[in-house]
Amino acid sequence: MTNDIIVAEGLKKVYRVKVPKGFLKKTTKEIHALRGVNLRVREGEIFGLLGPNGAGKTTLIKILTTLLLPDEGYAIVNGYDVVKESRKVRKSIGVMLMGERSLYWKLTGRENLEYFGALYGLSGETLKRRVNEVINFVGIRDFADRLVETYSSGQKMLLAFAKALINDAPLLFLDEPTVAMDPRNAALVREKIKLLREEFGKTIFLTTHLMHEAEMLCDRVAIIDLGRILALGSPQELKSSLKGKSSIEIDVKSDRVHEVINEIRSFDDVLEVAFSYVKINGMDAVKIRILCSSPRTLLPDIISLLIKKNMDILYVNPQEPTLEDVFMHYTGRLLTEDTREGV
Ligand SMILES: Nc1ncnc2c1ncn2[C@@H]1O[C@H](COP(=O)(O)OP(=O)(O)O)[C@@H](O)[C@H]1O
Ligand SMILES: [Mg+2]
Repeated sequence: MTNDIIVAEGLKKVYRVKVPKGFLKKTTKEIHALRGVNLRVREGEIFGLLGPNGAGKTTLIKILTTLLLPDEGYAIVNGYDVVKESRKVRKSIGVMLMGERSLYWKLTGRENLEYFGALYGLSGETLKRRVNEVINFVGIRDFADRLVETYSSGQKMLLAFAKALINDAPLLFLDEPTVAMDPRNAALVREKIKLLREEFGKTIFLTTHLMHEAEMLCDRVAIIDLGRILALGSPQELKSSLKGKSSIEIDVKSDRVHEVINEIRSFDDVLEVAFSYVKINGMDAVKIRILCSSPRTLLPDIISLLIKKNMDILYVNPQEPTLEDVFMHYTGRLLTEDTREGV
């Protein structure tokens, strides 16, 4: 027997949506959200599912938490089958979904936690104590007794995080737990996630599109794109698949970036190049990322090219490969638009 707390084999999910086709006609379009996902999560680890928007992260987390049925494949969570034993799965996990809508806005945060705690069978002093513990742990005492409708979006997220802890489950599913949070709250939630594992022995399955979050928090990471897991391992293992390579990040102020990308790609030493449109200090800019073997020889050539093309260079940063480069290596694209959190 293994001590895998989550086992998924061959999970597939297709969404069918109606789209207009010509006058008064509609046709059904199939969206393959998961195309055969296999993974195993070990007890006691922080496991991250890292991928861009639309990769299939929420779909996978919904299947593992019994909120959505798979079309094919199976998953075992805490020893229970997510389809055949969904009630047992639900009792044994804590869940925080993105864009949490299940909070009651006309109740206070504390009343919400009491309500959800009661659903798990807690009552009386035990319920009160648990609610207090969770409020103190997450650090939401200042606003716990205010109506949720007065909360900022960050405060709602913190309450949703607290709600996932109310039944003291050994396994937590967190769908992009820091998205739309200001950097201070995001850092707070990451600290709490680490503590949950280190002090309370929880297993955590989280999704993120932030490579630095995955790198900072996770023992192992699965990189997902277009419904497929492309790579799986510790951040160090994933990065060492790019051993001997370097990464160069260049920000430019220009909308003519297409003109140079192909030229950059044609340099001998360039293995991959990708770019994304970003805002830097409120200004439109383009981030170019290049994977290469010898940045010392390549970088001067690239800078000369950008200057020749009259492009304003805002920032140049040669560095060791990150998970962003691992993603680029597999997909030829960038994982995220830069949010520049904490920089
Ligand atoms: N309810 C739905 N109906 C139709 N398509 C959906 C639905 N939910 C998600 N999708 C599509 O499935 C794909 C995966 O989405 P999702 O699992 O939400 O990805 P992620 O959480 O990684 O952004 C995307 O192409 C998305 O547009
Ligand atoms: Mg999602």
